[in-house]
Amino acid sequence: MNQDIEKLIVQDKKKGLSDKDIGGKYGVTLKAIERIVTREFGVNISNAANHLLPSPKKTVKTITPKGFALEETTVWSFKSRGSWATHNGNYRGNWSPYIPRNVILRYSKEHDLVVDCFCGAGTTGVECKLLNRNFIGIDINSVAIELATENTNFDVSGASADTKTELRVGDARDLGGIDDATVDLVCAHPPYADIIRYTHDNEGDLSGCDVARFLDEIEKVARESYRIVKHNGHCAILIGDMRKNKNVVPLGFRTIERYLAAGFVLKELVIKRQHNCKTTGFWYSNSVKYNFLLLAHEYLAIFEKRKKGARGGKEGAVSAPDSSNPYQGWKLTGEVNTLESTTVWIFNEKDWQRDVTLNLTKRYSSGHYVFFGKDAQDKPETELTETDLIIAISGDNMDELTSVAKKTLSAGGILAIVCEDVRRGDGLLVPTAMKIEQRLRGNNTLEIKELIVVSIENARKSNDGGSIEITHKYILIYRKTT
Ligand SMILES: C[S@@+](CC[C@H](N)C(=O)[O-])C[C@H]1O[C@@H](n2cnc3c(N)ncnc32)[C@H](O)[C@@H]1O
Repeated sequence: MNQDIEKLIVQDKKKGLSDKDIGGKYGVTLKAIERIVTREFGVNISNAANHLLPSPKKTVKTITPKGFALEETTVWSFKSRGSWATHNGNYRGNWSPYIPRNVILRYSKEHDLVVDCFCGAGTTGVECKLLNRNFIGIDINSVAIELATENTNFDVSGASADTKTELRVGDARDLGGIDDATVDLVCAHPPYADIIRYTHDNEGDLSGCDVARFLDEIEKVARESYRIVKHNGHCAILIGDMRKNKNVVPLGFRTIERYLAAGFVLKELVIKRQHNCKTTGFWYSNSVKYNFLLLAHEYLAIFEKRKKGARGGKEGAVSAPDSSNPYQGWKLTGEVNTLESTTVWIFNEKDWQRDVTLNLTKRYSSGHYVFFGKDAQDKPETELTETDLIIAISGDNMDELTSVAKKTLSAGGILAIVCEDVRRGDGLLVPTAMKIEQRLRGNNTLEIKELIVVSIENARKSNDGGSIEITHKYILIYRKTT
């Protein structure tokens, strides 16, 4: 890009112009603006007008956001990102404070020690201060640490703080300085590989890594997190998927796998809905025309460090949504006028199977579809005819399912697997969709195309303060390549 234009863009940023306006003015992409901003200001921020001007210590009156209630189900959705205390959305890619607030309240108590090793502009630190937890925040970028210092520089009106906030530049892959088994909770939000760049040329910045390298590096972070967490302590991370060539890259599941490989067990797998996804107009028509879904969710995985030998419990089988008669109600009755265009489908408890079927058949089939188990699986091989969509409710029969899919799907045909996570007797979670994705990875004829979440509205809610109620299901969409 022309250097004069770059200078003008920097000037406009300093005046507080939005990226969208700058993009329109100079005909440049948002990615290009992001690159100029991170290089010029040393940090990825949306508003550079008052960037790092010294500001006086604030006094915060609002400790709890209005109407706040602890989340009780596995689908979390916050209409606004939250702007109580010193929270603001200026640091690109920062997380909604509702997320650390929920995690901190559920998995720590007052005076506990919480660590965020991807601390960014300090959202978790602000929540720890408001909720009276000790906090250590670490980030690879010194400018992010300056922002975090500013954001956590407040007093709480009428309260005398007896907890500490410590912020420092460091690398999440090496948490030297924090002793083994001394932390109650790690609560962190890593980059999603290279989707958003946080620094211009910082070697240790994991947002500079492609997927394969990111996964290897995040495993080092997972091992360090495991080391510092106390036995029976917790670690929560928020991570999203990516899209490459119209196919999803299941970065979320693959990251979770690395944390499990580091020794953690999985306690909860929560879906965080994203609200900035366009579901109308241009995006809707492109979603239909080019047959892809807009990514509209992230995964909040909550891990536990169990005492050695205390992992116990039986692994649950990969489970179907309804074991009594799984295909009852899975009929095409009715019509769907507007197709779902994002990865989160919100249906009510009574009609979700019908709405799933209608969406799948309308989007992926020209009329030749079968339900695995009802039509395909039970027929002798000689009677199997070619189809362009198989809808399967996963069970323990993945080998048979993939074999039927290979035989009967036409080239480009779709295998849709509907499943849900399962709670084991010992309270841990069996991540069914993740296990299916793991099992089919590397399959030479089926490639993953979409990872859809079906959120069931009006689902039963638990108030027991223990486990979170599982109220979502998944649909894994595979495309037959040859
Ligand atoms: C998604 S942002 C976190 C935002 C934060 N939750 C907030 O609300 O401000 C990811 C952060 O990870 C930091 N980061 C990248 N690589 C890192 C590493 N190796 N060690 C520590 N921090 C790193 C980036 O600088 C960035 O601030």
